[in-house]
Amino acid sequence: MSQLTHEQREELETIVHSSGTELNAVNDMASQVHKNVQEYYGSRLETSEDLQTSASCTMPARPMSKSALDALKLVHPEVSKRYFGCGIVVPEKLTGCKVLDLGSGSGRDCYILSRLVGKSGRVIGIDMTEELISASRKYIKYHQEAFGYEEPNTTFVQGYLERLGEAGIQSDSLDVVVSNCVMCLCPDKKAVMKEAYRVLKEGGEFYFSDMYADKVVPEHLKEDPVLWREGMSGALYWRDLIAPVQDIGFSTPRLLAASHIAVHNAELLRKTDGIRYASGTYRFFKLPKSSVTVGAEVTYKGTVPDHSDQLDFDASHSFQRDVPLPDSEFLFTSQATSQDHAPQYCHLNPFLLADKLGSSIRQCSKTEKKAGCDGAPPGGCEATNSTSSCGK
Ligand SMILES: C[S@@+](CC[C@H](N)C(=O)[O-])C[C@H]1O[C@@H](n2cnc3c(N)ncnc32)[C@H](O)[C@@H]1O
Repeated sequence: MSQLTHEQREELETIVHSSGTELNAVNDMASQVHKNVQEYYGSRLETSEDLQTSASCTMPARPMSKSALDALKLVHPEVSKRYFGCGIVVPEKLTGCKVLDLGSGSGRDCYILSRLVGKSGRVIGIDMTEELISASRKYIKYHQEAFGYEEPNTTFVQGYLERLGEAGIQSDSLDVVVSNCVMCLCPDKKAVMKEAYRVLKEGGEFYFSDMYADKVVPEHLKEDPVLWREGMSGALYWRDLIAPVQDIGFSTPRLLAASHIAVHNAELLRKTDGIRYASGTYRFFKLPKSSVTVGAEVTYKGTVPDHSDQLDFDASHSFQRDVPLPDSEFLFTSQATSQDHAPQYCHLNPFLLADKLGSSIRQCSKTEKKAGCDGAPPGGCEATNSTSSCGK
């Protein structure tokens, strides 16, 4: 092997040094974001007044199933009061499943899921914010009793989503991973998605709601701590979800529901200068390596609770009971074959879907108090009509 010249060595040292410096800067930025978010969501829990002003309240464009609604009614009011999500993260047919909730907050979704997985299932909530983990743990016994279980089926662990292994979450151990309005607060979304992929079993599903932007959020806005904790700096341009998901090995995302999010706070509006936000609920799967990709025919037998006649797979595909769906490889593959030519993944655009569904908006401003409407938490609400083109 030839020796490096002095110049080459110097050049190499500069590269190594500068990439080390960059890495440190990235790590510093990530830990600052974590601290900022922890402080915001943790300290907001100190008083119920704080909590109510910070509640997110995007109106679900897709109604909750009857079972999920029934479960929600049994959730302790203190837990529901501290809900900060922006969608419904309840996939169908959960009995016996092992589910992980990324960024579980006060635990509302975990307790709904706890009821739906039944006593043979298991739910784990993970969150980095100590105050929220303690708050959610307080009600484990309450829900165990409310659901009539001999043993609790729910646990909450404190930890970072980027490092699930440190929190003891094993590879290939879960049927479903959910998350509700959390990814927009994570500086390294790909690390979180990779971890979700690692811990899912083959065939497992990642089903999550999050806040998306209609364009790439400029870098300088990522330096603003208020925008970060509101999810407005960290919200992905919706298109930028697709490539990382496919790179990691998941199937192409499927869009289930979407709602526009209005920002009422004048200062935040000024800072974000015309960026629009929407909540989107997507699902994608860790496909089995040996999955059948050609000639598959699927017939829905009507066996999923609450969906005896029809099962919606996403916002544009449904199964009718006893109606065979021939050549349905689109369900199991990356979807690239059938959708590659669809212009610019329009069918995955949450802004378009929100327009189509005519979704009314419940404001997600956590910094401005407004009267709640129709049972929405009092974070404010407003209906708007807007139109989007696919390119936006
Ligand atoms: C907007 S709240 C949503 C909470 C909950 N999903 C709900 O619907 O009420 C975001 C939560 O994600 C947690 N979180 C954000 N980034 C995280 C990270 N990198 N690791 C662990 N938890 C995180 C925060 O502590 C906070 O509890």
